[in-house]
Amino acid sequence: MTQIVHLSDIHASSAHFLSDVAERVIQSVNEIAPDIVVVTGDLTQNGTYPEFADAKEVIDRIDCENKVIVPGNHDSRNVGYLFFEDFFGARNSCHPLDGVTVVGVDSSQPDIDDGHVGRDLYDWIAKSFETDDFKVFALHHHLIPVPMTGREEQIPVDSGDVLELLGRCCVDLVLCGHRHVPWVWRLNEMFVVNAGTACSNKIKARTTQCYNLIEIDYGDLRIYRVLPGGEQELVIDRVMSP
Ligand SMILES: [Fe+2]
Ligand SMILES: [Fe+2]
Repeated sequence: MTQIVHLSDIHASSAHFLSDVAERVIQSVNEIAPDIVVVTGDLTQNGTYPEFADAKEVIDRIDCENKVIVPGNHDSRNVGYLFFEDFFGARNSCHPLDGVTVVGVDSSQPDIDDGHVGRDLYDWIAKSFETDDFKVFALHHHLIPVPMTGREEQIPVDSGDVLELLGRCCVDLVLCGHRHVPWVWRLNEMFVVNAGTACSNKIKARTTQCYNLIEIDYGDLRIYRVLPGGEQELVIDRVMSP
């Protein structure tokens, strides 16, 4: 079985980061001891060097060899995407890991909150998914609207084309953040999973800080919503027929 922890929207900053909640998140994730950790962006609030340094410290304290990290719109403010590369490496990356391939892309644009993957990446994405592995696509922006988030906005401007591409590549799972509300859609055979904010005060009514735990077990798929202290709620339990 492969366990993926999916965190999002840390928002390291004096205004929004909750260090006590982050401590609980770090501890509960380390108790899970996942095989892969995916962080879908908004590591910072303003893309500044001190905020990236703080976000790096939080992520470094999570014990996991395999981390896939992509920037969010807040990380690309003030040319912060350069600091992202300094701290976390390439903004687009492919990680084949023991039967699971995770492709992470940068859906942000400098100083614009709208998402955009871009046609230039489509061929590389398709090539990266030429595998029999379980396929995971990670980006910051939500490809499908998320309920209870108010006025809909900032979906990637090319979301229709990206969804078609991912469907054609037989992607199993899409991980995204940005809206700070957890949700799961099933679109054809693909699960599109949104994460809440892990440890910021930027929550919407009736939601709280949380993250996702995904278990992949020979085609079976379980998705849990996890509170910072580690309490788990099973939200998807897909058992493949033999
Ligand atoms: Fe965010
Ligand atoms: Fe965002």
